[in-house]
Amino acid sequence: MIQNDHFIIKTKVYFNKGSMQMLRCMKGHCALVVSDGIMQELGYLKMAQGYLKDAGINSAVFTGVKPDPDVNVVAAGVEAYESCNADLLVALGGGSVIDTAKAILYFVWERHKARGEKFEKPCFVAIPSTSGTGSEVTNFSVISAKGAKNVLIDEFIAPDVALLDSTCIRNVPKAVIADTGMDVLVHALEAYVSKDATDFTDALAEKTAELIFAHLKKLYDDPANDNARDRVQNASCIAGVAFTNANLGITHSMAHALGAQFHLPHGRANALVMESVIQYNADLAGTANNYAAWKYRMMAERLNLPARTPREGTVSLLYAIRKLKREIGIPQGIQATGKVDPELFEKAVEGMAEEAIHDRCTPTNPTPPTKEDIVRLYRESF
Ligand SMILES: NC(=O)c1ccc[n+]([C@@H]2O[C@H](COP(=O)([O-])OP(=O)(O)OC[C@H]3O[C@@H](n4cnc5c(N)ncnc54)[C@H](O)[C@@H]3O)[C@@H](O)[C@H]2O)c1
Ligand SMILES: [Zn+2]
Repeated sequence: MIQNDHFIIKTKVYFNKGSMQMLRCMKGHCALVVSDGIMQELGYLKMAQGYLKDAGINSAVFTGVKPDPDVNVVAAGVEAYESCNADLLVALGGGSVIDTAKAILYFVWERHKARGEKFEKPCFVAIPSTSGTGSEVTNFSVISAKGAKNVLIDEFIAPDVALLDSTCIRNVPKAVIADTGMDVLVHALEAYVSKDATDFTDALAEKTAELIFAHLKKLYDDPANDNARDRVQNASCIAGVAFTNANLGITHSMAHALGAQFHLPHGRANALVMESVIQYNADLAGTANNYAAWKYRMMAERLNLPARTPREGTVSLLYAIRKLKREIGIPQGIQATGKVDPELFEKAVEGMAEEAIHDRCTPTNPTPPTKEDIVRLYRESF
């Protein structure tokens, strides 16, 4: 099954509270700080600019990022980058902000290539303000175009430095804690059963799942719990390293299409389809004796859940996921979100399945799906 022969972590990760101050040690003349209105409102943007000033670095800001960024936002960011002639790129925000900064970097580079100019790659620093995507260490960027989410994958866009400063995630609303936390768990489980999983990525995926099951509910119940916040933030980053090396699967492919169609947050869309996908991957309706079922059993065992057989392990894992989702207020199905009209869903389902089949996360799913499989999984998740 394993078709992967290397493991890479390019990003230097600082994980202490207050690590944003590492900006004081950066080099450069002008930084472009990519962020959003919330980070500005909460004062974190000003804080980052202050640290850059201490290092003698001028900064320009681009705060036009909205959740699930699209190509127009990226195009505006490319202009902002070029007009300040930046030699340092800082992303301060959630996955949407970090992905935008990555796409800006990618397209500035493309522009230079098109003009036949040499591109001096800036140092790229990512400071996540959510614990979810792991984008601070991945070579993925998810950008919407014409109502669909496109995944850009290139080592070039992986940040050089990640500053995990849990101060920045103190104000995350409870619903965002829940959605982004489920995203972390899906990253771990998809990396774990991916066709590109290795011993290296398995170790990271197992640790991630342990941390999420131990700390996500605690953080949701009490967002002021420092230890839980730190541990979930670590889990998010660790899962990022796992999936940037092992890739993901059709939970993400389906979530990308579903989220784009019905404007559901990324982590929530994942949480809504993950159980159907696990049952499908493990062939729970059949023999439950394939590669994915054995991997789910291993994961369940690692989590101290009943797992004498692949079937028992998979069922235990599903039970634990369902319990966690209930505890952190994730609706049990797509319809229960109240955001998706059943008729519109039926109209959209074929198109979403078509998109999901061509998503860049699909080839590493342990069981290769047909379009009909995906349509059925969407309906089961409804
Ligand atoms: N690059 C990757 O590897 C990768 C992986 C998974 C998902 N994604 C993409 O990342 C995006 C989702 O990112 P996300 O889940 O981090 O959410 P997000 O960045 O879209 O943020 C969600 C909301 O929370 C707000 N927010 C962020 N930090 C906050 C804070 N500290 N306090 C208060 N509010 C805060 C944001 O302003 C936004 O309104 C999607 O576009 C998804 O497709 C990327
Ligand atoms: Zn994700």
